[in-house]
Amino acid sequence: MSTQLDQIAEQILRDNDRGGYTVPTPGLYPYQWNWDSAFAALGFAAFDMSRAWREIETLFDGQWPDGMVPHIIFRATQPGYFPGPDAWQTNKDPLSSGITQPPVAASIVRILYEQDQDKARLEALYPKLLASHRWFAEFRDPLNNGLVMTTHPWETGRDNCPEWDAPARNVDISNVSPYQRSDVSHVDSDMRPQNVDYDRYMAMLEFGRSAKWDHAEIASNGPFRVLDVGMTMILIRANRDLAWLAEQLGRDEDADYLREQIEKAESGASYLWDDTARAFCSKDLKTDLSSSLCTNASFLAFYANVGTTEQRSALLKNFERVASAATFTAPSTDPEHPEFDSKRYWRGPIWVVVNFMIAEGLREQGCEHQAARVQHDTKKVIERSGFFESFDPVTGKGSGGSDFTWTAAIWLHWARFAHSSTQFLEGQGA
Ligand code: DGY
Repeated sequence: MSTQLDQIAEQILRDNDRGGYTVPTPGLYPYQWNWDSAFAALGFAAFDMSRAWREIETLFDGQWPDGMVPHIIFRATQPGYFPGPDAWQTNKDPLSSGITQPPVAASIVRILYEQDQDKARLEALYPKLLASHRWFAEFRDPLNNGLVMTTHPWETGRDNCPEWDAPARNVDISNVSPYQRSDVSHVDSDMRPQNVDYDRYMAMLEFGRSAKWDHAEIASNGPFRVLDVGMTMILIRANRDLAWLAEQLGRDEDADYLREQIEKAESGASYLWDDTARAFCSKDLKTDLSSSLCTNASFLAFYANVGTTEQRSALLKNFERVASAATFTAPSTDPEHPEFDSKRYWRGPIWVVVNFMIAEGLREQGCEHQAARVQHDTKKVIERSGFFESFDPVTGKGSGGSDFTWTAAIWLHWARFAHSSTQFLEGQGA
């Protein structure tokens, strides 16, 4: 049965459709973003399966010859966005940025394929997905233990998370060329990163541009080299889902290769465990220091299915603590941390796509009660505020852009397709 919010969500996807690809929200993000697009496909799958596949196909149109899927594909110049193609200067066709984003695509493709066994479309996408995973193994696994190194906070998707404060403070910003931000003309600046964060983002971008986007050079000598707990957990999960897809296509050798990658990361994950935070945390490779901060990305360990029995139970306790410290869960930064800010982007607000992955993981681990709490809170904030980019975990108020593609997409997926859909619609949370 379709509710009014289902219809609004569907309309948001249709309105943000630019013909084969969607923008996250008009104005603030007027291009195709990598992980936004993958989640958009999940939403389209609720009412137009062919369009869902198309979203992933257009995303992979932007894949580089070395296998990287860029974080933004610039299909038409939009003067209202900075930094656009002139700043990146990657000279790719289609034009794109020079960094990547969390590799959720294989996991989304698995969900599409489970709903609609379109083997021809899977066959065409599969080698591209595999190449993108091999890119991570080749360029972003410096310790050869399956942990993903990021070279820019924009890659992590969690742009201004306090996890990046210390590593980014060491980035030299003295030579950054003058620039004009445009994000703060679209939304309240209290909901966006600070100017000093942008100076650092631009210094990292300029390093990549001067290295002519040579990924080996950026990975070895770039100014920001951090093992990201979020991308790591997402890649482990995506490798599991890609191995499953490989098996569906009879690609046994690929499945063996992917399983080796998974095993490596399963034991490598202990390197990110922080006994003070009682959580998996990101780690600066330049200083070997952990962020010691429990974030919503830490809880993706459940989704990746990693950790010892002791680590999992400590992390679950941490989840309970964080959930009771907030009105709505899961805040992007621990509400008991001094840097928590309930409005400022990834320093506190709730992100529905991360909630989706956390809830999936918790449910798979048998933590039904906690999974239901995450789903229930997600539903409540959307009902209260609408389909915003993110939500204040204290008040439930929407923050950032409105009519947001991925928020609408997860709503549609949960409301219509998830095994827990009855619970989601009836709102029987913790
Ligand atoms: C932005 O423009 O804020 C994005 O997060 C960068 O990808």
